[in-house]
Amino acid sequence: MRVPKMRVRVCGVGSYLPKRVLTNTELSRSLDTSDEWIRVRTGIRQRHIAADDECTSDLALHASRAALGQSSRSVDEIDAIVLATTTPENTFPATAARLQHKLGISRSIPCHDVQAVCAGFVFALHSAWNMLLLGQVRCVLVVGSEIYSRSIIDWQDRSTCVLFGDGAGAFILESIEEDAFSKNPCGYILDVMTSTDGSFYDMLYIDGGAGSSTNVGHLKMNGSVVFREGIAKMANSVTELLSRNNLRAEDISLLVPHQANQRIMDGVARKLGVLQERVVSTVGEHGNISAATIPAALSHACAEGMVKRGDLIAITAMGGGFSWGGALIRW
Ligand code: ACO
Repeated sequence: MRVPKMRVRVCGVGSYLPKRVLTNTELSRSLDTSDEWIRVRTGIRQRHIAADDECTSDLALHASRAALGQSSRSVDEIDAIVLATTTPENTFPATAARLQHKLGISRSIPCHDVQAVCAGFVFALHSAWNMLLLGQVRCVLVVGSEIYSRSIIDWQDRSTCVLFGDGAGAFILESIEEDAFSKNPCGYILDVMTSTDGSFYDMLYIDGGAGSSTNVGHLKMNGSVVFREGIAKMANSVTELLSRNNLRAEDISLLVPHQANQRIMDGVARKLGVLQERVVSTVGEHGNISAATIPAALSHACAEGMVKRGDLIAITAMGGGFSWGGALIRW
């Protein structure tokens, strides 16, 4: 059987942030911290907190509907769901299965979760991209959805709790056969890369989990190592992608780095030589929403009219593992 050569394009982007906003000043009433410390060290002004009756799949549902609304696809055309999360609704089944049901997809389609912490969305994108390139499916919903506030954050630990929030973001991806693409060229994903170095496992982790303890556990982090490695690994991902596609940093129209900390994003842009005005930053509005930051930031950029047809968009993320990666998208 001849497998047709495929291109994959992003045909919809959406996001969702829960209504409840927790500002730095509000946090400082119950914690030994201040708005100034958090803003100066991280750029974060506030984070959004899921309502008691909102679960990970609810946030994902809102973001998915927003992405579908922006695309030319209907929910019935989704052939697979890949959902990145560190905070699944239940330990099993996959939150993607719950999302499938909530979206009203009654056809049997493959739906699975991906766990690569803050790099989860890039890993999910990589997985979906490969499915589409192989021609196994036509349209994939890729989602990042997180509720860090509910159990994995220790709200007494000022060195970590101020950094995170809740939210979701989604892409709709579709494949186009090369013949159709050459007759009617459009934007497409040029390349995706992912990688992991497990020797950093203990630098950023949750000290609990079903396979090792009787509780969910709390987030533990060596902040300075995460800071240093985050800049290096995100910048190196983009450099590698540019180099293997014969592109240069000057060709990047928009850099969408993982939104963990403004100082990390500044460091990545500086290392790459990308001008500040080309970097999308939404971290001040929602803090680190882990696997959801990249689609949420790109969704914001689209809504603000920052993205034009033909633009080269570079995305990159790093998280626990350490796991990291990136993608180049021609819009
Ligand atoms: N409010 C006030 N003081 C604080 C707070 C807080 N919220 N948190 C820590 N401090 C104190 C510390 O106790 C320390 O006090 P001391 O000097 O009396 O011991 C002081 O501030 C300085 O602490 P440092 O850790 O040296 O502060 P630093 O400038 O390195 O910033 C930070 C800390 C923001 C955590 C930084 O290391 C960082 O951003 N690391 C990356 C973390 C990150 O983004 N993680 C997200 C997950 S991973 C990812 O998404 C890539």
